[in-house]
Order: sequence, then C-alpha cells, then structure tokens
Amino acid sequence: MKKHLIAPSLLAADFMNLERDIKMINESDADWFHLDVMDGQFVPNISFGMDIIKQMKAVSTKTFDVHLMIERPEQFIDAFWQAGADIITVHYEACPHLHRVIQMIKDTGIKAGVAINPATPVSVLEDVIEDIDLALIMSVNPGFGGQKFIFRSLAKIRQLKELINKYQTSTLIEVDGGVGLQNAERVLNAGANVLVAGSAVFKSENPKETISRMKSLGTLKWA
Ligand code: DX5
Ligand code: ZN
Repeated sequence: MKKHLIAPSLLAADFMNLERDIKMINESDADWFHLDVMDGQFVPNISFGMDIIKQMKAVSTKTFDVHLMIERPEQFIDAFWQAGADIITVHYEACPHLHRVIQMIKDTGIKAGVAINPATPVSVLEDVIEDIDLALIMSVNPGFGGQKFIFRSLAKIRQLKELINKYQTSTLIEVDGGVGLQNAERVLNAGANVLVAGSAVFKSENPKETISRMKSLGTLKWA
C-alpha cells in the first residue's frame, strides 16, 4: 500500500506571515501545498489568484496542488500553469465541457483533477475517470475553511474507490474540508490517498507536529 499524502491548505495560513508559513511547510512532512482559488461566483468567497501563487512558488519546494473554485476555469488554465501549478483541479459543477477542460490541463503537461461538491454523486465521474490523475471529494461545501466534515463523504470516498478499481486507473482520491487528526484515520480507511487540511494544521499549536502525526497515521498497519 502506498503512503498517503498530506496537503496543507494555505487558505488557513497567516497571510501577514505567508513566507514564514510556506517555509514551515517546506520543512515539514507535508507533501503538497493545497491552494484554494475562489472567485466570488462559483463560491461565496474570494481568495487569491495566479499572481500570489506565482510569488508563493518562488519560495516553496513542494508540489503545487491548485484547486479552482471558479466559474469558467478554462479561461485561466494557462495562467495557473504559468504561475507554477503542478496539478490543476476544476469543479465538475463549473464545467459544461469538462472533458475539454481536462484535456486543456493535460496539454500543458501537468496533472488534471476534478472535484465534486457534497451534493454531487460520484457517478458523474465515470466518463472521465480514465482521463484524470486525481478526483477530489469535497467534504464541506466549498468556499470557507474551518467547516464541519460532512459524514456522508465517507461513503462517497468508498464509491470512488470502487469506480477506480472498476476501471483500474491510478487516480488519486483527495479529500478536502473538515479533515483533521480526529477523523483522518477514517478518511484514509475509506480509501483516501491525499488529505487536505487547513485549520487542522494552521490553527493547531504545533503545525509541523500535526502534519507529522497526520502523515504517520496507518504506518503500523502497513509496516
Ligand atoms: C474549502 C477549501 C478547502 C479549505 C479546507 O472551500 O477547498 O481546501 O481550505 O479547510 P479546512 O481544512 O479548514 O476545512
Ligand atoms: Zn480546497
């Protein structure tokens, strides 16, 4: 069994000390930086865009996992690729021509992901599962950090795992929203490969240690 990955969400970082927080993640056991882009249209909040991501990239040493919570993401794929994204994830709900957007991302040479909201069934991924590198299960309604994990997401992770097994793809299952030490083990047992954690990391007393603890979960079982 391959070890799971930890992707701290910078949305919960201290933006007045962003460089300090990025360097902390660089030195930690985290695998990726999870970057939440919000446009105030697809979700009821606005975060940051490609210019900030480009500046973050200059001081970071890890994979940039860009989660686009925006309408018409096809307009911005090139810009986020140029800003330094290693993975771009778009929302199923924001893409009437999802297959085309996935191809656009892959044409840049980076990895492509598709996210689904809590009320969107896993079955909508069936016709793209062989095309994507990552599928993201939103375990809160997107737009804000610090929300409560929606329990139903565990069943969706299991369904997604079944879909991946059916098509024998190597698609990673990423879970985003309300994930922390209190539920990470259950999320992993359901089949998750990548844990996104915002508040659980940045609002904890010792973020580096929290990351290490999340990373070491399940180690004994697989040792
Ligand atoms: C929510 C974002 C998440 C968020 C997670 O819209 O996609 O990535 O930052 O934050 P926590 O871990 O605090 O729920
Ligand atoms: Zn996210």
